[in-house]
Amino acid sequence: MRDGQPGTPIRLVDYQVPAYLVGQVHLDVDLFDEHTRVNATLALRRHPDAPAGADCVLDGVGLTLEALSVDGEPLAEEAWRYDGEQLVLRGMPDTFTLATQVIIEPQRNTALEGLYVSRGMFCTQCEAEGFRRITFFPDRPDVLSRFSTTVRADKVRFPVLLSNGNPVARGEEGARHWVTWEDPFPKPCYLFALVAGDLACLEERYRTGSGREITLQIYAEERDLDKLDHAMASLKAAMAWDEQTYGLEYDLGIYMIVAVSHFNMGAMENKGLNIFNTACVLAHPKTTTDAGFQRVEAVVAHEYFHNWSGNRVTCRDWFQLSLKEGFTVFRDQSFSADMNSIAVKRVEDVDMLRTVQFPEDQGPMAHPVRPAEYQKIDNFYTVTIYEKGAELVRMQHGLLGPERFRAGTDLYFSRFDGQAVTTDDFVDCMAEAGGIDLTQFRRWYSQAGTPRLEASDTFADGEYRLTLRQSTPPTPGQPDKLPLMIPVKLALLGADGAALPLDADGNTETVLVLTEAEQTFAFAVPGTQAPVPSLLRGFSAPVELRYDFSPAQLHFLLAHDSDGYCRWDAAQRLYHAAVTRLLADPSAAEAEAAALRPALEQVLARAMDDPAEAALLLTLPGEVAIGDRLDVLEPDRIHAARGALQAELGRQLARQWWQAGQACLTPGPYRPSAADIGKRSLRHRALAYLAAAADERVASHLEALCRDADNMTDQLGALRLLVHYRLPGAAQALADFAARWHDEALVMDQWFAVQATVPGEQTLAQVRALLAHADFDWRVPNRVRGLLGSFANGNPTAFHAASGEGYRLYAEALARLDEVNPQIAARMAGACARLPRLPDARREALAAALRDVLSRSRSANLREMLERILA
Ligand code: PHE
Ligand code: ZN
Repeated sequence: MRDGQPGTPIRLVDYQVPAYLVGQVHLDVDLFDEHTRVNATLALRRHPDAPAGADCVLDGVGLTLEALSVDGEPLAEEAWRYDGEQLVLRGMPDTFTLATQVIIEPQRNTALEGLYVSRGMFCTQCEAEGFRRITFFPDRPDVLSRFSTTVRADKVRFPVLLSNGNPVARGEEGARHWVTWEDPFPKPCYLFALVAGDLACLEERYRTGSGREITLQIYAEERDLDKLDHAMASLKAAMAWDEQTYGLEYDLGIYMIVAVSHFNMGAMENKGLNIFNTACVLAHPKTTTDAGFQRVEAVVAHEYFHNWSGNRVTCRDWFQLSLKEGFTVFRDQSFSADMNSIAVKRVEDVDMLRTVQFPEDQGPMAHPVRPAEYQKIDNFYTVTIYEKGAELVRMQHGLLGPERFRAGTDLYFSRFDGQAVTTDDFVDCMAEAGGIDLTQFRRWYSQAGTPRLEASDTFADGEYRLTLRQSTPPTPGQPDKLPLMIPVKLALLGADGAALPLDADGNTETVLVLTEAEQTFAFAVPGTQAPVPSLLRGFSAPVELRYDFSPAQLHFLLAHDSDGYCRWDAAQRLYHAAVTRLLADPSAAEAEAAALRPALEQVLARAMDDPAEAALLLTLPGEVAIGDRLDVLEPDRIHAARGALQAELGRQLARQWWQAGQACLTPGPYRPSAADIGKRSLRHRALAYLAAAADERVASHLEALCRDADNMTDQLGALRLLVHYRLPGAAQALADFAARWHDEALVMDQWFAVQATVPGEQTLAQVRALLAHADFDWRVPNRVRGLLGSFANGNPTAFHAASGEGYRLYAEALARLDEVNPQIAARMAGACARLPRLPDARREALAAALRDVLSRSRSANLREMLERILA
C-alpha cells in the first residue's frame, strides 16, 4: 500500500499543490441491492503553479472501472494506469473533462468509510479519505469543487434521497426514482455526503438575524422520531449563538442532519447534510442520560459551527486538521459554557484534557497539534488535535481579549472565505488583528509534549517574588524543546481570602506571559503575611503546574479562591496527596479521610449554591488518573487505596451524603436543564460514596431508583453503583435492565459498558462472555466501544490483570476487529499507549500480545499504531 508502508510516512515538508484542480463535478449514483454504479464527470484544469506536463493523478481505492473517457473520447491504453489506489493520466491538456464509470459494493463495506449501508440505509463518510472509495477524484482538501449529485434508488425502499446543497430536480423511472442536488459552495470532497433510506423527519424553521428563513430537518428511523427534539433545539440555539458571538449566519436554505447507527466517530459536518452517530443526536429522557443530552447539544453545535470553521474556510492539507477541529472545539466549548455554566464546563474540559490528552502527550503517540508526519491520517483524529488544539485557540483568545479575538476571526473568515488554508494563516490573523507578536507562540503548534511549569516564590519586605520555570520533556522524534510563550493568569489571595490589588489601578488578576526558560515576577504586597498564589487561573495554559502547595494553602484556596478551576485543582491536589500516602500505608484510610473531612464538609455546606460544581469538587481522581501520576503503574494497589479512601469518606460523612441526596431531588418531569443536571450529578456523587461504604440503606435505595426512576440518568447511575460495588440485587437489576431496554441499542451499549468496567480480574470472564453475547456485534462501533473500549480504558485492574489474561483477550479482539473495521481497531489500540510505563512483567506480556497482532495485521491503520506503541 502506497500510504501504508512502515517507514514511508507522508510529510508536511513535502506538500505540493495538486497538478490539476476540479472546477465542477457531477455525480450520478445508482444504488442497487448488490452493487452501486457511480458515474462521475469532472471538469479538470491544470493548477497555475503546477509544473507543465505533470501527470493528472486521481485517487480511487478498490473501484471497478467500467468506462473512462476524456472530452467524450475513450482514452488510449498507454495514456492511463490504475493500480487499485491511484489513476494516473498522462499527457493531458490544460483543461479537459473526465468521465468515469465505476462499480462499488457498499453492502460489503464494514470499514464504514466511503459509501456503506447501516440498517438498510445508504450513507457516506468521506473525511478524511473516504471519497476515493466512491469515485476517482483528487481526494485532498485543497481541491475545492462545485458538486451536483443525482441519487437513484428503488422508490419504495428508499423514499428519501439526500445529498449536499439544494434539491433542484426529481423524477421517476418505473420502480425507481431520482433526485438531483446542487451545492452552490465549492468544497473539498471530504465534505461530500449522500443518504438514501426510509427515514422519518422532524422539520422546523429558523429565521436568521438578517431575516432569511432556513428549513431544518433531522432524519432518523421512524422509531426514533420522538428522540429528535433536543437536537433540534440545540441546533437553533447554536445558530443563534454563532450569529451573536461570531457574526456568522448559515448560508444555504436547508440544513439536514441524519442519524445513523453505524458510525466510526461522533458526527460529520458535510455541507448542508451532517451525518451523525445516533449516540450524538438521539435524546429522550427515558433512554438518554444527562451526559448524553449534553453531548448531543455539544456535538450538534460543533458540526454546525464547522459550516464556517471547516467548510467555508477549510484545511490546505491534513497536517492542518486542528485548524478546523481545534478552533471548532473551542467554539463548541464556549457555546456549551454559555448554555450551562462557564465554571463547570471549564473544569470538565480541563479534567478531560489532563486525564486523556496529557497521557497521550507523554506517551508513544505524542505528536504536535500540527503534526509533521503521519502514515494514516485517520490515526490523528486525537485529543491532541482536538482538545489541545482548542487550548491553543483559547490561549490566543486570552492573549488578545474578546474584542480583538473577534476582530481576528472576522479577518480570518473574510480573508480566507472559500479557501483551504493553514494554522499559520489563522495565527497570522490573530497577530494582525491583535497587534501582537505571536512568533514564539507558534511553537505550540509544532512542539509536542506537555510543558512543565515549575513555580516557586518568596516573600520579604513587602515584596512577593514568583519564579516560573518551564521545560518540555522529550517526545518521540523531538528530543530537544524550546521555551514556549505561556500565559499564566495569577491572583494573590490575602489572609481574608480576598484577591489583593496587583497594580496601581487595583486590578486583582493579571496574566504573566512567560517567554524565557525562567523568569521572576515581583509584586508589592503590603503587610507581613505571605499571600497565597492562585496560579494558572482558568487553566490559562495547557501545562502541568508544579508548586509545592502546603495542605493549609490548598484548604485555603478551596475555601476562598474565586476561580472555579483553581478551587477544583486544589481539591484534586488534596485527594492525590491523600491517595499517594495511602499507597505507602494502606492502613491510614481512616486518618486520611478524617483529615479531608473539614474540606468536604465545607463544600457540602454550600453545595446547594451550585450542586454541579460541588459534585466536581467532591469527585476523587479516577484510578487511571492516579496511575498516570505514578512512576510505575500498579493498578491493584491504586484500586485498593482509592477505594478505601472513598469508603471511609462515605462512612464518616454518611449523614451529610444522605442529606445532600435528599436536597438534590428534582421533582416534576425530567428536564435536561443545567440546574437539574447539577442536582442529579451531586446526588449520584453522594450515592457513590454511600455505595463505596456499603451503607446499610444504600442497596435498597439504589434498587428502587434503578427500577422506578422515570429517566435514564437515575436508572443507569443506580445500576452502575449496584453492579460496581457488588451490592445485593445487582444481578437482578442487570437482568431487568436488559429485559426492559433490549430494543434500544444506545441503552444496551451502556449495559455492556457497566459490566465491562466492574473492577477486578473476574471481569475478564464476563467480558469474554459478553463478546459472545447475541447482542454483541463487531460491526457496530458503538457496541465495540461500549464493551471493549470501556474495558481497556476504564478498567485498569482487569485490563492489567497480573495473569496477562486481559492483554490476551484484548489482543485477540484487536486482531478480529482489524478484519472488520481497521479505523476502529487502530483507535482501540490507543488503549495500549501506556505500555512503556508498565512494570516489567506486564510490559513484556502486553508487548508480546501486541507483536503477535502486528505480525498478522493487514491494515495500515492498526500497524501504524502498534509500531509506534512498540517502538
Ligand atoms: N470532522 C468530524 C468532527 O469532528 C469528525 C470525523 C472525522 C468524523 C472523520 C468522521 C470521520 O466534527
Ligand atoms: Zn470537528
